[in-house]
Amino acid sequence: MDFRELIRARYSVRKYLEKPVEEEKIELVLEAARLAPTAVNYQPFRLIVIEDDATRKALARAYNRSWFYNAPVIIVACGVPGEAWVRADGFSCLEVDVAIVVDHLILQATELGLGTCWIADFKPDPVREALALPAELVPLILIPLGYPGGQPRPKKRRQLTELVYRHETKGDRAI
Ligand SMILES: Cc1cc2nc3c(=O)[nH]c(=O)nc-3n(C[C@H](O)[C@H](O)[C@H](O)COP(=O)(O)O)c2cc1C
Repeated sequence: MDFRELIRARYSVRKYLEKPVEEEKIELVLEAARLAPTAVNYQPFRLIVIEDDATRKALARAYNRSWFYNAPVIIVACGVPGEAWVRADGFSCLEVDVAIVVDHLILQATELGLGTCWIADFKPDPVREALALPAELVPLILIPLGYPGGQPRPKKRRQLTELVYRHETKGDRAI
């Protein structure tokens, strides 16, 4: 699959087969995450891989969708605020770094025929409790991982003309 095909093939999978994910594929997905760039290469993230039934079910308290907590694997992407690069004006790159890590992971999963979904709309406290997370880790994105059980949906996206402004050298406004 070339890159153009890959980014078209990825979609948010909200139905997973019960089929387990091979350990080698999990390793490849995690390796893609490891190779992601981060600001100043500080790598302020930790990934928690959950395969056991009891913990996945406990995560229902954080995000109560059966397609999520029944997925064969759940990866919790955490940021470590104290390790992130912070710009002089106070802007922390923590969430940017974790987003790039998650995107690497998700695209590698797609290339391996696996489905994923970004999940940000969860309750953090039940995640902390289910995983006994140390205080320095902040759960930012939950990622179910498994073989897709449904069909891709067509992509609905705005037109490039709405999203991109070609900066004109004449005039003083970007937009
Ligand atoms: C940062 C982020 C958070 C998201 N959170 C959720 C979520 O909590 N639950 C969910 O079902 N989908 C979530 N999504 C998936 C988006 O709804 C989805 O990516 C978008 O509608 C485009 O569809 P596609 O991924 O199938 O191309 C999230 C996506 C991103 C990038």
